[in-house]
Amino acid sequence: MKKIHITTHANLALIKYWGKRDEALLLPCTSSFGISLTALKTTTTLYSHAADEDLIQLDGNNNASLHIPIRKFFDGVRTRFGINTKFSILSKNHFPTASGLASSASGFAALALGVNSVCELGLSMQEISVLARTGSGSAARSIHGGVVLWHKGQALDGHDSFAQPMFNASWWPELRVIIAVTTTQEKKISSRAGATASKETSSLYPGWLERSKERLPKIIEAVRVRNFHTMGQLAEADWTDMRDVMLDTKPSLNYWTEVSWAVINKIIALREQSGLATYITTDAGPHVKVLCLAPDAPRIQEELRTIPGVLSILESCVADEPTIEEEYGNFIP
Ligand code: DP6
Repeated sequence: MKKIHITTHANLALIKYWGKRDEALLLPCTSSFGISLTALKTTTTLYSHAADEDLIQLDGNNNASLHIPIRKFFDGVRTRFGINTKFSILSKNHFPTASGLASSASGFAALALGVNSVCELGLSMQEISVLARTGSGSAARSIHGGVVLWHKGQALDGHDSFAQPMFNASWWPELRVIIAVTTTQEKKISSRAGATASKETSSLYPGWLERSKERLPKIIEAVRVRNFHTMGQLAEADWTDMRDVMLDTKPSLNYWTEVSWAVINKIIALREQSGLATYITTDAGPHVKVLCLAPDAPRIQEELRTIPGVLSILESCVADEPTIEEEYGNFIP
């Protein structure tokens, strides 16, 4: 019997995914582009067994409602590949979960990579990305390390909506993302519900789609030539656009707290007053992700530490590819 140990990293979007053209297949309205982050690591152990049900342990979060999408994911896998065993899943996020730090992204990426290996499905990376996407959209990007592009695709069945690695982890060794963690609480509105509401109710949504499409080739080029300012400006512009869409959603989606705004204002002041090269992005949660280059990271950390309510600071480089290790033995759940 084979047990698989997988290490994945959540992939932070610089050009965001927010809203779906197909809600069931999790097909996005936009292509998105992001960086896998060393600080957002998930380790997952997976094996198949003959017990009556899937056994799920999500260390670091005891909320049983989080097991539902995982069971659904494995039901889908069993139907699609004609598998009749159940699985044992132990997943540990090495960062706060369910509050906008993309825990589902790295988790489902690990499950897709893991089930391909445990059941010897022989899927290509493109097919694994599609499979990960069926668990949570942004997981499509997290099956890779480095800097990743998720093609929104055109096909109705979603086979062309997969992520492609663009630049590996060593492409830009000076690139840093500093995460100001501002809560350990779960967010009130999931990104799934929030994105659907935004698409249905925000009059700003179509404009954001257009601008996102224009930004995408520009940001890929900025990373290719390692132009930090252009990359940062485009990422921050995409975030402000998504933020405005969220706030314009009816009812309004306000994922940020006073602490988030204190961090955001501090970073903008550092850029405008001290000329520091630094930009902001956030996701559907109150944590703030600060983009910078290695020489400026200590100064930014120092400034963030002075803000009351910042619980911890995670400094991240661009992560390597996921690792998959096999262990053989008799595993009894
Ligand atoms: C704001 O991937 O969590 O982080 O596909 O519904 O599971 P579902 O949504 P999810 O959305 C992530 C949204 C985001 C932006 C991004 O990561 O691109």
